Parts: sequence; C-alpha cells; structure tokens
Amino acid sequence: MKKIVFYGSGNISQALISGLLSAGYKKNLIEFIDRNKINSGKTKKLGATKNNLKTIDTKSIIFLGVKPKDAMNAYAEICAAVKKPKIVSLVAGIKSNKYLSESNGVELIRAMPNTSSQFNKGITAICNCNANKTTFNQVSSIFKKVGTTIDITKENKIDDFTGLIGSGPAYFFYLLKVYEKRILKLCDGDKSKKDTIICNLLEGVSHSINDNSNLDELIASVASKKGTTEAGLKSFKSSKLSQNFEKGIAAAIKRAKDISVEF
Ligand SMILES: NC(=O)c1ccc[n+]([C@@H]2O[C@H](COP(=O)([O-])OP(=O)(O)OC[C@H]3O[C@@H](n4cnc5c(N)ncnc54)[C@H](OP(=O)(O)O)[C@@H]3O)[C@@H](O)[C@H]2O)c1
Repeated sequence: MKKIVFYGSGNISQALISGLLSAGYKKNLIEFIDRNKINSGKTKKLGATKNNLKTIDTKSIIFLGVKPKDAMNAYAEICAAVKKPKIVSLVAGIKSNKYLSESNGVELIRAMPNTSSQFNKGITAICNCNANKTTFNQVSSIFKKVGTTIDITKENKIDDFTGLIGSGPAYFFYLLKVYEKRILKLCDGDKSKKDTIICNLLEGVSHSINDNSNLDELIASVASKKGTTEAGLKSFKSSKLSQNFEKGIAAAIKRAKDISVEF
C-alpha cells in the first residue's frame, strides 16, 4: 500500500478517507494537509494524520482535493515543495494542460469520484494524463477499494462524468426532498420512521435494478392501467420532468467545461 496525502480535506477527501479506512487501508498511510480548522478536525477524527508539505514523504501520492478556485495555488505549493510529485487532481474542470504547463516533472492523473465512496459504493472516472503505468495502477487500485472505476482516455469526458456522476448523489437528494416532506407528514412527524421508509424504498429500488436492469419493465411492474402510479407518471410527463432533469444535468456538464476557462 502506498502512502497517500490529501491536500485539502473537505467533503470529497473525507468521503474517500472513510471508504479507504473501512476497506482496510492502513491509518498510518493516510495523511492530509488543510488550512481549514473544521475540516482538519473532522479528518483527524476519521483517523488520518495531519501533516504539512515540509515533512511529508515525497514519494507519497498527493490527492488534490481543493475547490477549483484554489487549485492552481495549491498545485503550485505542492510543486514548490515536492520534487517530481505524483498528483491526483480531484478538481472539477481544470484541465491537465493547465497544470502541466506550470510545472516540470509532475506525474498527473485526473480523477472524478463521488461521495458514495464513503460507503465503498463510489464511482470514479480516472484519466491518466502523463503518469507512468505503475503510478496509474497504484492510483487505480486505491479508487477500486472505495467502489468501481471507469478509465477515461479522452480527458474532456471527465466533464460529462462530473455533471452526471460526481454531482449525481445531489440530484437524488434534491428529488428526495419533495418525497421527504410528504413522508414526514405521513409519519406524523416521526423522523426516524421517515428515514427508515426512505432508506427501504431506495434499497428496494437498488435491488430491483440489480435484478432487472430494464427500467421500463420495472415501471410497468408498479404502474397498472388507470391506477395511482399511472396518474402520477402522467403528471410528471405533462410537466416535462424528464426534459427538465436532462436540462439540469446538461447545465452541470456545461459548468464543468466553463470552470476550465474561469480558473
Ligand atoms: N464534493 C463532491 O462531491 C466532489 C465530487 C467530485 C469531485 N469534487 C472536487 O473536489 C474538490 C474539493 O471539493 P470539496 O467539496 O471536498 O471541497 P471542500 O469541502 O471545500 O474542501 C476543500 C478543502 O481544501 C482546503 N484548502 C483549499 N486550499 C488549500 C490550500 N492551499 N492549503 C490547504 N488547504 C486548502 C479548504 O480550506 P478552506 O475552507 O479554508 O478554503 C477546504 O478545507 C473540488 O475541486 C470538486 O470539484 C468534489
């Protein structure tokens, strides 16, 4: 196992650290660097060790987990402190040529995970920008510990992946908010019952898809002619729910592309 340093230990780094630790990655091989006290506290609590660029093992693989606006500064800090660093950028939008034009000797991989990595159900797109095969394989096996990986050869596909999968959990949480309100009412405000109902519903959906991946058939297995489900689905159709959902995803993908121009 390789030593890993998370540079920026916010939402996505914490999700990865949790997933790695529960998959048996050794605590003493996971370090982080962060200027934010709250995130530092949370990450320490997970079991990772705080370090700084002056004292890290320079052979570590460094995961860049800062917001796009901070990425180029953080990248410059790493390159100034570590000779020939191996960097995995988790940052949305910023392209490899931007990083590589600012440094020499960096081995760079771009990766786009999602927060489900926390539960070892992550989906991570990985694009090898210029790393050697050994480094790429090491990084790939790290992400495989927290879920499934998809190798991407055309870097611009990462933007699609960001809008679809990186952002994906939030779309479902957003849709569930409508559901949550209704279910809470149904349970007379009992939050724990509401949570059980939502979790069972989602787990059931997930098992159904595992069993039969044909979504039309699955819909038909619930909706009967002139029944309640059909009425609901008809209303979704007339309010163009699918088209609007599609538009939302397209806006996220466009944003990923715009970020590369902005920063
Ligand atoms: N969240 C997701 O689901 C997700 C999924 C896939 C990819 N990503 C990508 O992952 C990146 C991080 O997202 P996030 O949601 O995890 O962000 P976040 O929660 O804001 O975490 C970033 C952390 O990095 C710290 N930081 C920034 N610059 C630093 C520096 N120079 N030195 C030390 N610490 C520094 C920040 O401190 P301050 O708070 O003080 O700025 C913050 O604690 C983004 O680029 C995003 O595109 C996120």
